Amino acid sequence: MTVEETNATAALSIHATLACLEILTEFDVVEARTQTRIYAQYLGFCAIDVHFLVTSASELCHNLIMHAGGGLFLLGFVQSQHDLCNGIQLSTKDRGPGIADIQLALTEGYSTANSLGSGLPGVLRCCDELSIQPRTGGGTYVSAIKWLSS
Ligand SMILES: Nc1ncnc2c1ncn2[C@@H]1O[C@H](COP(=O)(O)OP(=O)(O)OP(=O)(O)O)[C@@H](O)[C@H]1O
Ligand SMILES: [Mg+2]
Repeated sequence: MTVEETNATAALSIHATLACLEILTEFDVVEARTQTRIYAQYLGFCAIDVHFLVTSASELCHNLIMHAGGGLFLLGFVQSQHDLCNGIQLSTKDRGPGIADIQLALTEGYSTANSLGSGLPGVLRCCDELSIQPRTGGGTYVSAIKWLSS
């Protein structure tokens, strides 16, 4: 990851990559969903939160295919520096056209692909933190974190 991309995880004391998948087709999205479900269950997320995480992984991966011509999906185990809470990070990296207006992209109903425009707002609702950053050299880095509630 570049320096910019690590900023999204600056408040983390532990960050370990659990899976890294290239996303180009719907088959890859199925694999990303499966890996997310397996690790979320293993880490002890409740059934509803597992569902929220799998849905978020799906939306982020579909965005890679729909808007960026593919990219990488990374699943990470994270621990916050602040309270040592454990969580899962879903992130994507692509070399697509980038997102011109990030606030607009997070607005329900906004889509440049004539779709529903509910993917990123959905991830925002399903996860505890969402960060979207342009990448040096072009493209987009998206990070979503969900914490395990004690
Ligand atoms: N990785 C990306 N690269 C470039 N643009 C993106 C990326 N992800 C999202 N966007 C932009 O943000 C907009 C909103 O994304 P969002 O996922 O909310 O909606 P959508 O993908 O258009 O529709 P839906 O997800 O409901 O099918 C997209 O229409 C697109 O313009
Ligand atoms: Mg989408």
